[in-house]
Amino acid sequence: MENIRNFCIISHIDAGKSTLADRLLELTKTVPDAKMREQFLDSMDLERGRGITIKMHPVRMEYAFDSKIYLLNLIDTPGHIDFNYEVSRSLAAVEGAILLVDATKGIQAQTIHNFDLAQKQNLVIIPAINKIDSPQAMIEETKASLSELLKISESEIFLISAKKGTNVKELLEAVIKKVPYPKGSAEKPFRALIFDSKYDSYKGIVAYIGVVDGRINSTSKIYLSQAKTQGEVKELGYFKPEFRPVKELKSGEIGYLATGIKEPDKIRVGDTIVDFAEFKSGRSAEALVGYKVPKPVVFASVYPENPDDFENLKEALAKLKLNDSSFTFEQETKEALGRGFSCGFLGSLHAEIVSERLKNEFGLDLIISTPSVVFKIINQKNREILVFSPADWPEPSEIKEIHEPWAKLEIITPSRYLGRVLEILNTLEGKPVETKYFGSDKIFLVYEVPLKAIISGFYNDLKGASQGFASMNYEILAYHKEDLLKMEILIAGRKEEAFSKIIHKKAVFQEGKKMVKKLKEVLPRQLFAVSIQAVVSGKVIARETISAKRRDVIAPLYGGDYSRKRKLLEKQKKGKRELKEKGRIRIPSKVFLEMFRNG
Ligand code: GTP
Repeated sequence: MENIRNFCIISHIDAGKSTLADRLLELTKTVPDAKMREQFLDSMDLERGRGITIKMHPVRMEYAFDSKIYLLNLIDTPGHIDFNYEVSRSLAAVEGAILLVDATKGIQAQTIHNFDLAQKQNLVIIPAINKIDSPQAMIEETKASLSELLKISESEIFLISAKKGTNVKELLEAVIKKVPYPKGSAEKPFRALIFDSKYDSYKGIVAYIGVVDGRINSTSKIYLSQAKTQGEVKELGYFKPEFRPVKELKSGEIGYLATGIKEPDKIRVGDTIVDFAEFKSGRSAEALVGYKVPKPVVFASVYPENPDDFENLKEALAKLKLNDSSFTFEQETKEALGRGFSCGFLGSLHAEIVSERLKNEFGLDLIISTPSVVFKIINQKNREILVFSPADWPEPSEIKEIHEPWAKLEIITPSRYLGRVLEILNTLEGKPVETKYFGSDKIFLVYEVPLKAIISGFYNDLKGASQGFASMNYEILAYHKEDLLKMEILIAGRKEEAFSKIIHKKAVFQEGKKMVKKLKEVLPRQLFAVSIQAVVSGKVIARETISAKRRDVIAPLYGGDYSRKRKLLEKQKKGKRELKEKGRIRIPSKVFLEMFRNG
């Protein structure tokens, strides 16, 4: 036990967590040189494709120090705010955290947020400034503001380059020296916390566990305290980072347990696993404090493009939820879309990632509505109705009042970009709350804004306005009464409910124009002209037309057989007319994703 250290790396997005993890894997010779590749722990295709971490990634390393062998369990975490639930669960599984700050950016919004989270867990925090090799590094400034934030002396901050490996060994040894070993006891009855899980096509449902007390071996039977379900140990092991089977896991260790349980809803993160024999004889210890269930912030309707795929989608959602417990799904039926699910997410990047995982990992083509916040409507009978999707928006005559959620938005920007950042903030219909200097050259802005204004597109706009230097964090505030309307989109005269959106009365024309213009860019051309209209209260407020793709039917005809040419053109015209009458154009999954990415 004294030789175990459990820790994670936390930071704002892109500070270099996964790159630092690479150096630690090399230093501890966890991954053979021949297998090593950049950002090794980002193992999902989606993570590699996008260059961001989406999941927490645990790995066990061994390191000789002071003539002892230490077992080091590292959890690499995501930086984007939409995946913060992964960070909070990682923090609950460890005793220490390396807080990484990018020297080229200085302190960023998530640096502060994640530091607060780690502090609340009473973790030992080891601060490090990364990318000191970069010509853009602002080492002295960052050091000064980090020591102010953490209330520590500058000498306690490590200056590292994860890319070059500079001072990484010293940082790892500081983890061994400063992070306490886990507190449990191997002699007590067995209990372990499920911090993540995964559906494995060979092993079934695999629980990722932190063993708090006792020991378990590969022949034990288990019992899940919350789910009140019995299971078996089909396989036990640790992360290297791939599954590496062992005979026994004991107090203080982090590993996995293939449960033999088939039903995805039985395995929940935050549940406690105990030994079945100990449970039967009344010897098992109390269940551990699990996790606070995160509250979805945005909702989107997810439907299979092919209605026959409904059951497949249902199964896919249940399996995916094992590996991402922060989204919710509930069956719904909508007139325009058929049978599908109303899904709740922690933000729109989260919605986008879940949709892409459903497509990539389960091969499903989907119709996904634009993510929406939850509106509260007071109807004429003074009843409160929660509206999760624009498709459920009541008739205007039934509405007495509309309320929408607001958020506290915190932005840190270098002062040279302040003008451009304020320009985009002014488009949000919010109000400034606080502005202060932060360090020598940074401005810290606090705004209160309608949540819907920042859930999609805004983060990209902010990055664009500040060449990537401004960063943001937000938290949900109360509901405010607002003047809102539903905007519908007609494509080739047909209402496409998935694109409906709730917007502020003042922004109707601007939003309508933006939406039809974007759809014109992303919809594939058809053999006939396709109209795109934005409609509010039965009135067309914006319109675009995608011209027809002309198939050159007469190209193969040489010479002057005029009547044949005419016949062919006539035939083509008739075909187009028929297509148009059928009206339906196929909207590929990627168009839905593209639309909600751009809000
Ligand atoms: P998320 O998990 O998505 O938040 O990112 P991350 O914090 O894991 O960052 P990652 O390791 O993916 O690195 C982000 C970028 O910074 C990559 O382009 C890295 O090559 C670069 N980078 C990381 N460490 C260093 C460093 O020490 N020096 C320089 N110059 N670049 C670095």
